[in-house]
Order: sequence, then structure tokens, then C-alpha cells
Amino acid sequence: MIAVASDDFRALRDRIRSRFGLYFDDSKESLLQSRLQARMVTCRAQTLGQYRAYLDEGPAGEAEWDELASLLSNNETYFLRERAQLGVLTGTVLDHCQRRGTALRIWSAACSTGEEPYSLAMSLLESGRIQPDECSILATDLSPRVLERARAGLYRELAFRATPPALIEKYFRPRENGFSIEEPVKSMVCFSRVNLLDPQATARVGLQDAIFCRNVLIYFDRATQLEVARRFATLLPPGGFLFLGHAESLMHATDLYHPVVTSETVYYRRTSHAAPH
Ligand SMILES: C[S@@+](CC[C@H](N)C(=O)[O-])C[C@H]1O[C@@H](n2cnc3c(N)ncnc32)[C@H](O)[C@@H]1O
Repeated sequence: MIAVASDDFRALRDRIRSRFGLYFDDSKESLLQSRLQARMVTCRAQTLGQYRAYLDEGPAGEAEWDELASLLSNNETYFLRERAQLGVLTGTVLDHCQRRGTALRIWSAACSTGEEPYSLAMSLLESGRIQPDECSILATDLSPRVLERARAGLYRELAFRATPPALIEKYFRPRENGFSIEEPVKSMVCFSRVNLLDPQATARVGLQDAIFCRNVLIYFDRATQLEVARRFATLLPPGGFLFLGHAESLMHATDLYHPVVTSETVYYRRTSHAAPH
């Protein structure tokens, strides 16, 4: 029997979608309910409807939205993920930007616990083509909890499943319960909280040479994916680079980017079409 989603569920998931982009279709009611169970107990909400009212009307609603931001997203990540794209960064992107003679600006737009931006920094250093002070890497995420862990920079073995031991030895220090990221990589990355659905927050990020937004658009519906891609286009000059996860695509979807397909990966370059505001 197919369960019919309740009105309470639909109202709450629509609020979550408009606030964070994260989309739960009708089949996900019990999943959402079980993820929210502990929060609902804390907020003394017996139904999803009462919980939605707490979020939108309760005195601690804003703080509760922050709890949700940390609770609802999938934070799975690891060092040197989709490595072919890191090769494009240290090859084509650097070729393009070094001609300009100013510092390279990179945005890791859904950085989770920090493995992605630290991988960008390590790859740039490993290329031998750039000094730490010749690039700035801004790393942002929706979830305050993952940002805290990213800043701490302490990682367990699973995060290194694609990392050669020589790189671990070079850039990390063994600790009692894992490995900590060390200088100069650590100070090449600046962390901040940005919700990709917040137009003011994304505008404040400013002009970038390359944006890495990998493995987050898959949790958004198509309209939201295209809206976020359009917003990125306002931050990239013509020729600027956009990297998405391998399950995410803008192919045939917009004239703001053209795809570059290599034998190992796909990435996008900003065209000169104006991005509608
Ligand atoms: C699966 S992780 C991807 C990490 C990394 N980019 C990678 O590819 O390994 C997805 C991240 O997107 C973040 N996220 C989800 N919705 C977001 C939003 N609206 N704005 C910013 N980040 C968001 C989550 O908090 C989570 O840390």
C-alpha cells in the first residue's frame, strides 16, 4: 500500500525546501520523522505540525533552524575526492589565472568537514606552481556543526581512503585519535557559514576564479539547482570555472556555462551571457 503523505509533513518539507533547498519527497515522511524525533522531544512538539509552528513562531525558532541545518544534511566527504578535477585546478585553472598576475580566488561552496578545501590547498602546494599567499580559499557550509569540525581540522582514517600515505605524512600530524591538518595548508583556508539559498550571503562571497560546489545540488530539486547555478554565474567572470559532483549536471540546462568534457571528468566555464538578477 502506498502511504499518503500528511499535510503536516508537506507543510514542513516545503519550509525546509525554501529555507535550505533540501527536498524530501512524499515517500520520505517516516525518514524525516525519525530524523527529527529527538528534536521534537526537546521542543515538546508531538506532531510535525507543532514542530513546524515551533520553527516559524517559537521564540527559539531561529536557533532550531540551525539545529535542523546540521541534522538534515548528508556530510559524507573525504580527501582528494574526484581527483581528476583537482588536476584541472592545478593545470587549466592555474594557467588561466596566473596570466592575470593576481591572487587566485577559490570558493568551496559546500565544504562539509573541510576535506574538500584542504584538498584544494594541498593540491595547489603539491603543484609547486603557487605559494600559500598567492591564493585564497573560502570554504562555506550551511551546517554550523561541520564548520566547527572543519576549523578543528582533526580527521580519522576513513577520511584518507583516497590519500597516498606520503601526502598524509607531509601535511598532517598524527594525534591520539586521528591526524590533524598542519600549516601551511590550514591557514590557506578561511571558513564561514553560507546558505546557498540566501542571496545576500552568496553575494557577499564576491568574485571568484573557481567555484567547487560538489555533491550538494543532488539534494535540491531542479529549479533550485538552476537558481544556485545562476547565482554562481554572478560571481564568476567569463571563463571562470565551476566544478560540480559527478552525479550533478548543467548539461543543456543553461547558456551561462559551457561544459568541458575530458576523458576523466566534466567541469563548466562561465560564458559571457549576462546572468539575470
Ligand atoms: C555530501 S557533503 C559534500 C562535501 C564536499 N563538497 C564533497 O563533495 O565531498 C554536502 C554538504 O552540503 C551542505 N549543504 C546542504 N544544503 C546546503 C545549503 N543550502 N547551503 C550550503 N551548504 C549546504 C551540507 O551541510 C553538507 O555538508
